[in-house]
Amino acid sequence: MNKYTLAIETSCDDTSISVHEGIELISLKTFSQIKTHEKFGGVIPEVASRLHSKFIFNLIEIAIKDSGKTLKDMDRIAVTVGPGLVNTLQIGITIAKTLSLVLDIPVYGINHIEAHAFSPFINMEAKFIPKKAIVLIVSGGHTQILIKDGWKFNLLGKTRDDSVGEAYDKVAKILGLKYPGGPTIDKIYNETKKKAEKSPLTNLEKYDFSYSGLKSFVSLKAKKNFNKESLMKGFQESAIRQLIKKVEKAMAEFKIDDVIIGGGVSANSLLRSELKSIDNIILHLPKINYTGDNAAMIGYLASIKIQEDIIKEGNLEMDANSRMEI
Ligand code: KG4
Ligand code: ZN
Repeated sequence: MNKYTLAIETSCDDTSISVHEGIELISLKTFSQIKTHEKFGGVIPEVASRLHSKFIFNLIEIAIKDSGKTLKDMDRIAVTVGPGLVNTLQIGITIAKTLSLVLDIPVYGINHIEAHAFSPFINMEAKFIPKKAIVLIVSGGHTQILIKDGWKFNLLGKTRDDSVGEAYDKVAKILGLKYPGGPTIDKIYNETKKKAEKSPLTNLEKYDFSYSGLKSFVSLKAKKNFNKESLMKGFQESAIRQLIKKVEKAMAEFKIDDVIIGGGVSANSLLRSELKSIDNIILHLPKINYTGDNAAMIGYLASIKIQEDIIKEGNLEMDANSRMEI
């Protein structure tokens, strides 16, 4: 029986490799490029591609060694095919296909957003994954709310402009903080004694999100006499409230208590505590080290789908799809 999976994630600025035995993660190595990109105030795709190419072979070697196995023990490869930066995705895909040919094992293309939606269940058997759930994806590239129905997802709404992570990063830049802004703003939010600046709460009809109004508000205020910490605090409260309102609305309308959260912003302390205080919620949150981009969620999704017979055939024909939908 096929057992060992080697997973590769290169969709943005993290080179991440993992090894799984069945559905169990046995090794995970991630090289974050943040130190390089923070100098530019954001991810430069060309620079990201070069760094992936430079470090990926070494990371594969270390991850395999750490698993106590060898490349020849691998039974399949799982790789992110989209969404993400096309050139960085292509690096992971090309290596995955090459390994598949050389080792004569199948390669499976995995959707990055779908993998975030399964990140709370890494290492768990399928029976622990709710069949019906509200799914909130909050990352640097995406803000979406969906309904999970078995192995399918129906989109309820998404952002009309910036994603929530992007808003965090842009606001941080306006206020002179380093990229990525989310963790810094969250930290200051918890440490400051300053009062939150009253900030606009966007609450669009139905399930769409918008963050450009809130970002412009911070930008305008920042040009005047302002208190940086009060502005950050007000921003975080409004940014998170918008997410909470949509989760509550979806739970009430669809009568679903299971809520799954995934993506980099799911590390946010206020989001976590506000979600936990929603009545009746059955919350599925990823562990902090699986909130950002990682190969563990890619390898887990491939392994669990293969184990449950949801995907059968590998696909050597796959190509990077930067705008892939869930
Ligand atoms: O999922 P992710 O690692 O990459 C994408 O797929 O986009 O998400 C990265 C985003 C960044 O915008 C970063 O600022 C945000 O997640 N982030 C946070 C926190 N930690 C990371 N935002 C708010 N609060 C945090 N604690
Ligand atoms: Zn992501």
